Amino acid sequence: MKEKTNYIKALRFDSLTKIYDWLIKVWLREKQFKEVAIETMKLSKNDTVLDLACGTATLLIMIKQKFPDVQVYGIDGDENILKIAEQKTKQLDVDVKLEKGLSYALPYPNGMFDKIITSLFFHHLTDRQKLDTILEIKRVLKSDGILVVADWGKPKNTLMKLGSLIVQAFDGFEVTSTNMNGKLTKFFTDNGFANMFTIKCFNTILGTIYIYKFSKN
Ligand SMILES: C[S@@+](CC[C@H](N)C(=O)[O-])C[C@H]1O[C@@H](n2cnc3c(N)ncnc32)[C@H](O)[C@@H]1O
Repeated sequence: MKEKTNYIKALRFDSLTKIYDWLIKVWLREKQFKEVAIETMKLSKNDTVLDLACGTATLLIMIKQKFPDVQVYGIDGDENILKIAEQKTKQLDVDVKLEKGLSYALPYPNGMFDKIITSLFFHHLTDRQKLDTILEIKRVLKSDGILVVADWGKPKNTLMKLGSLIVQAFDGFEVTSTNMNGKLTKFFTDNGFANMFTIKCFNTILGTIYIYKFSKN
């Protein structure tokens, strides 16, 4: 029997998961925006890092290759995408702790992580799920921890707006509109996160990706 899901998968349909890495790499300037997101965390030796909704683990692999002493954890709701993540990390002999789970009920103790990073994820959530997820992030992040969010934001120009309509049609207008209207950061600043910085924006063929940095209030 098919698993009933209460979350949106990477490319919505299981049959498309296998082309996810190719699509993100070729169409979304993946290496560039993920490198900036990693840099933004300002990782120190022995930090413990969570990649929330890690997908195929590309970001985790990039972190571990650059900072071998950092302990990295990845969680995602989709066991199929986690299989790809496991294959990739095994092939590259990268030590990453992967787990299946949902963002609204993270299986980690309070204050476990120095840094939390999440990429192309929040636009998959309803506003209620965004709030529940932010409260869970707040719980598992240390009091002096850093949160870095890379995701779609308000398109920078008409061309970006047209591209972002494809993402919206695909992932759903209801869940994506908060991001595309530039309202995502307010969810964090209204719910226990401060010092919000927009680090950089990347125009891509499917819209504008923003990198934000937050600390806890
Ligand atoms: C567009 S993909 C992004 C994957 C990866 N972070 C990246 O940057 O390539 C979104 C991911 O979020 C996962 N996801 C969606 N809702 C989730 C939730 N509530 N909790 C955990 N994972 C979720 C999907 O399974 C998918 O792997």
